[in-house]
Amino acid sequence: MTTIRIAGVARAFGAVAAVRDVSLQIGDGEMFTLLGPSGCGKTTLLRMIAGFCDLDRGSIHFDDQRIDTVPPHRRNTGMVFQNYAIFPNMTVARNVAYGLKARNVPAAETGDRVGRALRLVHLDGYGERWPHQLSGGQLQRVALARCLVIEPRVLLLDEPLSNLDAQLRVEMRSEIRQLQQSLGLTALYVTHDQEEAMSISDRIAVMRAGNIEQLGAPWEIYGRPATPFVAQFMGTTNLLTGQITATVDGRTRVRVADQDFLVGASSAAIGSAVSFSLRPEAIRPLREGEAAPPGWAVLDAQRTRIEFLGALTRLDLALGGGGTLRVATIGLPPQALGSERMRVAYDPAGVTVFA
Ligand SMILES: Nc1ncnc2c1ncn2[C@@H]1O[C@H](COP(=O)(O)OP(=O)(O)OP(=O)(O)O)[C@@H](O)[C@H]1O
Ligand SMILES: [Mg+2]
Repeated sequence: MTTIRIAGVARAFGAVAAVRDVSLQIGDGEMFTLLGPSGCGKTTLLRMIAGFCDLDRGSIHFDDQRIDTVPPHRRNTGMVFQNYAIFPNMTVARNVAYGLKARNVPAAETGDRVGRALRLVHLDGYGERWPHQLSGGQLQRVALARCLVIEPRVLLLDEPLSNLDAQLRVEMRSEIRQLQQSLGLTALYVTHDQEEAMSISDRIAVMRAGNIEQLGAPWEIYGRPATPFVAQFMGTTNLLTGQITATVDGRTRVRVADQDFLVGASSAAIGSAVSFSLRPEAIRPLREGEAAPPGWAVLDAQRTRIEFLGALTRLDLALGGGGTLRVATIGLPPQALGSERMRVAYDPAGVTVFA
């Protein structure tokens, strides 16, 4: 049972403010992810929790215990790194037993616990192997077992999958998620991969330049991005800027170059500039003569590109006055799209408007 409470922490390295002023709470048994581009401060924040990086300001608590003043080896955190950090001159079993030895756990109990940890990560029977005999995925499982064996209060994972190939990454992320859930561990996960973050997390904090830009459940962050930065970082989107020309029935008409868009309600006045995010998959191509669903906006456009990706087909449409609108559709083979002149529809209520 561990909650993490981070209050007003900051850390600078010389002139670089790595973490500016971060406060957040992670619930017991929660999988919480720090997501953001390279250099935004994810690892620094994780290392503050592990005890490998001092705070300039703020405090960190595990439950009611203040831990930022406690030395790292007494915080009882387990950390998994991108590069595994497995000792090459020790067998798998001795690697996993390492933390127990440091804690003076008796040999018999060590054997049991190492066996259990290896079973958890599906490496039963690998104890006597040497690291060079293992694949990348197996090495990362050893690193995970080495953390789990000490029964940490908090599991910290820093880009644990980025050295693995794409398919293995997808498999391992769901294994990590299942393990974390079945053990009820409080975990902090760091990644710059937005899909990985969404698939694995209860909640995500999107970081930018040392601050949290948005915090929420994956679907909130994807579906209701708070800023243009988050909208663009979380997958592909059409980020458009135009001028409000009218408000009609609680909806707003925005002129972008020579093209009108209908978006949801906006508090901004007529004539003011506004940005909005329209996801490619929220735009539906209409077939010849097909009517749009009631309340949807329709655009006439010239198709300039088709990219068939199997399950998904991506289209580029030329907007009036320049610019491109990206569309993604499933279950629609390219030959069903008809002529290059086409109509698409979207629900204005699904557009995120940035005031
Ligand atoms: N020990 C250090 N000395 C000097 N600068 C540092 C140190 N550690 C981090 N920084 C700087 O602090 C900033 C944040 O670094 P951090 O490693 O936390 O980023 P990150 O989000 O983990 O990035 P990445 O995705 O590339 O791992 C960067 O500008 C980095 O160069
Ligand atoms: Mg990092």
